[in-house]
Amino acid sequence: MTHTRFSLSALAAATLFSFAVQAAPVEIKFSHVVAENTPKGQMALKFKSLVESTMGDKYEVKVYPNSQLFGDGKELEALILGDVHFIAPSLSKFSKYTKQLQLFDLPFLFKDMEAVDRFQQGPAGQSLLRSMEKKGILGLGYLHNGLKQLSSSDPLRVPADASGKKFRIMSSDVLAAQFEAVDAVPLKKPFSEVFTLLQTRAIDGQENTWSNIYSKKFFEVQPYITESNHGVLDYLVATSAFFWSDLPAEDRQQLQAALAESIAYGNAIAIEKAQADKQAIIDSGRSKVITINESERQQWVDAMKPVWQAFEKEIGAELIQAAIESNQG
Ligand code: LMR
Repeated sequence: MTHTRFSLSALAAATLFSFAVQAAPVEIKFSHVVAENTPKGQMALKFKSLVESTMGDKYEVKVYPNSQLFGDGKELEALILGDVHFIAPSLSKFSKYTKQLQLFDLPFLFKDMEAVDRFQQGPAGQSLLRSMEKKGILGLGYLHNGLKQLSSSDPLRVPADASGKKFRIMSSDVLAAQFEAVDAVPLKKPFSEVFTLLQTRAIDGQENTWSNIYSKKFFEVQPYITESNHGVLDYLVATSAFFWSDLPAEDRQQLQAALAESIAYGNAIAIEKAQADKQAIIDSGRSKVITINESERQQWVDAMKPVWQAFEKEIGAELIQAAIESNQG
């Protein structure tokens, strides 16, 4: 009797336990490489709060910033392997999986962020979201950061000033060609190493947005920043195609809606930070912001523009044309 009672209560406990296990929210890991006070950092946190407030019984979102979980050398592989569920790498970091996204690295392609947005929301931009689906990577949306500036240990006004200097770049052959076009030396390095490389003078400079230069303190170890606006740094918010297709359709819809709202929130922060972080850098007095005039700017354009031709075949002439057309807004 005692024995039966024991068995029954053990059974009840086991049933309760398995119910509790089944009911535990599924963990969604969102990994990224930047600080939390950036457009991407804030977008990820917004996504967490929206998902947990509307679907908290089913999903828990864990955000890992600052390359804590995976640096940018590893996060795409980790996504494909299922070790992380959401990432938002810069569009410059996908060339191993598609050559088409290299489009965004072409120097002086988009005249401003509105043009970038028009392209991304148009048919060509939207079709790129699925360009890596067969490889297990699904783009769910674009997130803005902003236009890139050139920071350096010496003042850069014209392309000749960059000659022979070493610049850290993201893992993109287009960006390598862009610096080679001004006789500089590009070095592909993960974002997490940039500050130390600059601080130790192992490299002379780098290109990045105001919010990254500010949040990662590059301005404290780079005495000059040229406001070149020579290219765009935006993100593809991506998930694993396998993870995504296994989710119930209704959940996918809700997650996608939370993501759209988070992206809109992050985009508003991107606009604000491009101004505010630039101003904070100027106010710090640690770095001199160099404004170039039209003829100086034209020299950079003339030197870097041949890169378009060199990559036209890989990227696709039609895609480049669609991007050019987005400048007419
Ligand atoms: C970089 O590597 O410089 C950027 O892509 C970092 C980021 O994610 O904004």
